[in-house]
Amino acid sequence: MIVIFGATGDLTRRKLIPALQNLFLKGKLKDRVVCLARKKYSRLEFLETLQTDRLIGEVSYSEEFLKLISYHFTDFSSPNIDYLKSVLTTDEEVTFYLAVGPELFQPITDIIRQLNLGRKKIVFEKPFGNDLESATRLNRCISKTFKEKEIYRIDHYLGKEMVQNILVFRFANSIFEHIWNSNFIKKVEIIISEEIGVEQRSDYYDKAGALRDMMQNHLLQLLALTAMSSPVSMKADDIRDEVADILRKVKTREITVAQYNSYRKEVNKLDSETETYVSLTLDIEDDKWREVPFVLTTGKKLAKRFAEINLIMKDVSCKLFSSDNKDQNIPNMISLKIQPNEGIIIKFNAKIPGTDMELQQVKMEFCHKCEFGPNTPEAYESLLQDIIEGDQTLFTRWDSVEASWRIIDPIIEKKNELSFYKEGSEVNL
Ligand code: BG6
Repeated sequence: MIVIFGATGDLTRRKLIPALQNLFLKGKLKDRVVCLARKKYSRLEFLETLQTDRLIGEVSYSEEFLKLISYHFTDFSSPNIDYLKSVLTTDEEVTFYLAVGPELFQPITDIIRQLNLGRKKIVFEKPFGNDLESATRLNRCISKTFKEKEIYRIDHYLGKEMVQNILVFRFANSIFEHIWNSNFIKKVEIIISEEIGVEQRSDYYDKAGALRDMMQNHLLQLLALTAMSSPVSMKADDIRDEVADILRKVKTREITVAQYNSYRKEVNKLDSETETYVSLTLDIEDDKWREVPFVLTTGKKLAKRFAEINLIMKDVSCKLFSSDNKDQNIPNMISLKIQPNEGIIIKFNAKIPGTDMELQQVKMEFCHKCEFGPNTPEAYESLLQDIIEGDQTLFTRWDSVEASWRIIDPIIEKKNELSFYKEGSEVNL
């Protein structure tokens, strides 16, 4: 049985239910889906809200799939435990999905404890805590009811197909594996650029900012997958050991924070110091990455929506194609494109046809969609399937959450003055 707390929220409607239907249609979901929320809907009214989404219009669900769904009104602050027991008592394993704000994580875990159920799992959306102290407190509270192997902390970036591919590119290809270190790489850039602003989430976002909303989780996880050493096996805990290990070695070199011009007006807070853009230069204290800056950048209301990891290679040792006034060698670059056009681009130098020895950068491209077709599962579908199957590889373990807050907390404390940028700016402000 899957129990969704916060079933009337955007996440459930827009991501979870569509992903569950896809799994159902592929024969990978057989469980009942029990939806709980604070709105006093009947089951039919709830199903209607699923089928007409104000943001995505009409959605079509199969009748057979909808039969799996039930809806129950629940007030999370004073729950009727006897009623919940009657709804949730089962011999099956129960997976609790907390699609609610973080302020409800603790109260809901307390409710679950009182239900006294047998086999169970719990899934948390981010943010997991607001800083190291609150995250530790929350983790301690959850640990009273759940063991680490029953806890799934979602970072939806880890469900993206190209992110799952990072380890394959690195460790299944000798052309990449051997050059993936400071002997060959000069600099690593990790970028998540967004076109949208804070949308309807100004209350949450103004307290979080880009450092908590994006950097502490998505970008640091991408850094970990890019920089970690080879795990001894592909078992979840072997991979997550390496992720945590590399995060513990991260040191901050430079911080830039900025806010888009119309932000304060938009959130109706004229003195807001919240950053909507952040760029960090980080070092990794590990022989493999000595003196290689990792530049992590993310921002809202920028020119384009894209996410990518760029490895900029060192210069060639012998500059045969440079003259006094012109260095023709543009550094080679490997670019992992996470979205929107997934793939890999390798940039290198070639001779421009003609009698002169003039060089130009050209590219070789692996286009994921061209090779595998357009039907790559959405991140949430992959993650939900893993939860059903009990595979924790793509979920952040407590030690890596802890290590990430240890990086981000001091940055939040000492971040320098905000600068401001125009909506639609390029990612390198
Ligand atoms: C979420 C952040 O985790 O990721 C949002 O809270 C952000 O602020 C979103 O917009 C970006 O995700 P994606 O998959 O659209 O790049």
